[in-house]
Amino acid sequence: MTNGVDLNQEALIAGNDPGGMLKALWNLPEQCEEAERIAQAIDVNFTATEIKNVMVTGLGGSAIGGDLLRVYAGDKAAVPVIVNRDYTLPAFVDASTLLFAVSYSGNTEETLSAYAQAKEKGAKIIVLTTGGKLGQLAEADGYPVIKVPGGISPRAATGYLLIPTIVIMAKIGLLPDAGDEIKDLTGHLRVLREHLKPAVPVEQNLAKQLATKFYNRLPVIWGVSGTTEVVAQRWKGQINENAKAPAYWAVLPELNHNEIVGFEKPENVLKQLEVVILRDRADHPRVQKRIEISKTIIKDAVSGVTEVYSSGNSTLARTFSLTYTGDYTSVYLATLYGIDPTPVKMIDFLKQKLAED
Ligand code: PA5
Repeated sequence: MTNGVDLNQEALIAGNDPGGMLKALWNLPEQCEEAERIAQAIDVNFTATEIKNVMVTGLGGSAIGGDLLRVYAGDKAAVPVIVNRDYTLPAFVDASTLLFAVSYSGNTEETLSAYAQAKEKGAKIIVLTTGGKLGQLAEADGYPVIKVPGGISPRAATGYLLIPTIVIMAKIGLLPDAGDEIKDLTGHLRVLREHLKPAVPVEQNLAKQLATKFYNRLPVIWGVSGTTEVVAQRWKGQINENAKAPAYWAVLPELNHNEIVGFEKPENVLKQLEVVILRDRADHPRVQKRIEISKTIIKDAVSGVTEVYSSGNSTLARTFSLTYTGDYTSVYLATLYGIDPTPVKMIDFLKQKLAED
């Protein structure tokens, strides 16, 4: 029982989620399968030899898929994947760039601006959206549009916003075929959701346990370069947007060269930090060693340190096992705070204010 809220009361969790975030989470395996089908039907009229770099331009929930692609492709693709979260594009973008313009709503102004620049630069554009202005522009301009279903929050659409980029890169020959891996991923997610769903009591539900640890604390999520780095960022974003609470993230080994020094003062603030370290079997052996040492450095200064290990076989399954756990955790944290996870009033307010100009 936290804040008078009992996470074993399923009805209470459901009552706190009128926007249906939990339903969207539950449907993630089916979403990934549908995303694969949609992307397979897209025709692309260029080949791998024409591509020197891949860029994903987008923001927030539409950009995180790009980062997941960047890490996924890191040890598989012969070309770099770069994520752009801005109005403008770097100077190197040209006709040899495969540019995914990703906006779930299709109306995000930074992405629309980047799209216009990409068009000017002659990049090979593929749009990934539910529609909106971006969908209309791309159709009028004759670019391929991967149209995914609407009706959920962008951050709940990670399957729709990541899987098609993998499928398209594989189609072109920039990545190996991912069909078996996607199958492995969806199978694993189906198993995981049975462990994370609201009906599973706190005692057996890792996400509920983590939410309880995060309650009234400052979550700090550590990931590892090349494996769980984006997942740490994702946990932070999900806690921000779903639970409307602050959270911070950092990545090893880099954090061993700066952040690790900052666990001395102020002691009362440090005692509010609840640290989670995301671990994967592919973490570099020296980083694994670093984690062990780092834990001993911080453990007495902070409120708590928990390690969460990925599960599953393939890279995609292991990555999503951790994002899925973080997604559920953020929704249960929202329940503890009595907050509806779906609306993001501050983002909407900013978009509205900017649209007034
Ligand atoms: O999760 C959210 O709602 C946001 O992070 C959005 O994804 C972000 O504002 C960009 O909007 P869109 O995904 O529609 O381009």
